[in-house]
Amino acid sequence: MINIKSEREIDLMRETCRIASSCLDHLESHIQAGMSTEDINTLAHDYITSQEAWPSPLNYHGFPKSVCTSKNEVICHGIPDPKVKIEEGDIINVDVTTYYKKFHGDTNRTFLVGKVLPEIQKLVEVTYQCMMAAIAIVRPGAHLGDIGAVIQEMAHDNGFSVVEEYCGHGIGREFHEAPQILHYGKKGTGTEMKPGMTFTIEPMINLGKKHCRLLDDGWTVVTKDGSWSAQFEHTILVTESGNGHEILTLSSQNHSKEHGHGPIS
Ligand code: MF3
Ligand code: CO
Ligand code: CO
Repeated sequence: MINIKSEREIDLMRETCRIASSCLDHLESHIQAGMSTEDINTLAHDYITSQEAWPSPLNYHGFPKSVCTSKNEVICHGIPDPKVKIEEGDIINVDVTTYYKKFHGDTNRTFLVGKVLPEIQKLVEVTYQCMMAAIAIVRPGAHLGDIGAVIQEMAHDNGFSVVEEYCGHGIGREFHEAPQILHYGKKGTGTEMKPGMTFTIEPMINLGKKHCRLLDDGWTVVTKDGSWSAQFEHTILVTESGNGHEILTLSSQNHSKEHGHGPIS
C-alpha cells in the first residue's frame, strides 16, 4: 500500500527534508582532501543533532554509523571509517537521512575532491542529469516505470550502466516505504503517481558494467569490475498543481552547488 500524505504530513516532510539538504550543504563546505570518511560522519552527526533531528541510518538494521560514505568504486552503503581517507581525484558520495518530528528525509550527493579525471567528472554530471531528468517527468498520472526508463536511456546514451539491485523508495513515517522506485524499466508500466505520494529517486550509475558485489562487512556495495560509481538522491512529493512535483530536499543554497562540483580541496 502506498500511503498518501496529508497537508500536515507534507509540512513535516518539508521540515525534515530541509534539514537533510542543509546537512549536505554543510558537508560540502567542509569536506576536503586528507579527511577520513569517519570525519565526514562526525560532521554530519553533529550537524543533524544540532538541528534537533536524528540520523536515520544509525542502528538501522544494525548499520553502525550516521551517514553512508561511498568512495570511488563503492556504489552505496559505505561505512564511515577512520582508515578510509579521501584524496585529491576521488569522488565521495554522502547519503544523509534525517528523522525529525516523526518523518524521514533522504538525500545524497557525490562530491568531487579537487581535480578529478574528465571521464569521472562526466560520470558524476550524467548521474545528476539522470536524476533530474527523472524528477522532471514526475506528475499525477505518470507511471513509476517512466522514471527508470528515463534514467536508463540517459545512462546508456552516455555509455554508462545502471545498478539494478538497489532502488529508490517511498518515504515518510518509515525510512523505506512502498513503492520501490526502480532506476531501469519501461515507459507506461507500473503504478500511476498520485498527489501526496512521497518517494526518493536515487540512481546509481557505473562507469563500467552494472554488476555489484557486497563486501564481507554486510553493507558496503562495490562494482564487480572495480569501475567507479556515482549517485544522487532527492526526496520528491507528487503535487496536483504546478509542474506536478516538489523536490523536498532541494538545496536552499545556490542550486549549482548540487552538481557535485565541490569541494575544491
Ligand atoms: N539512505 C539510503 C537510501 O537512500 C539507505 C541507507 S540504509 C543504511 O535508501 F542503513 F545503510 F543507512
Ligand atoms: Co533513499
Ligand atoms: Co539515501
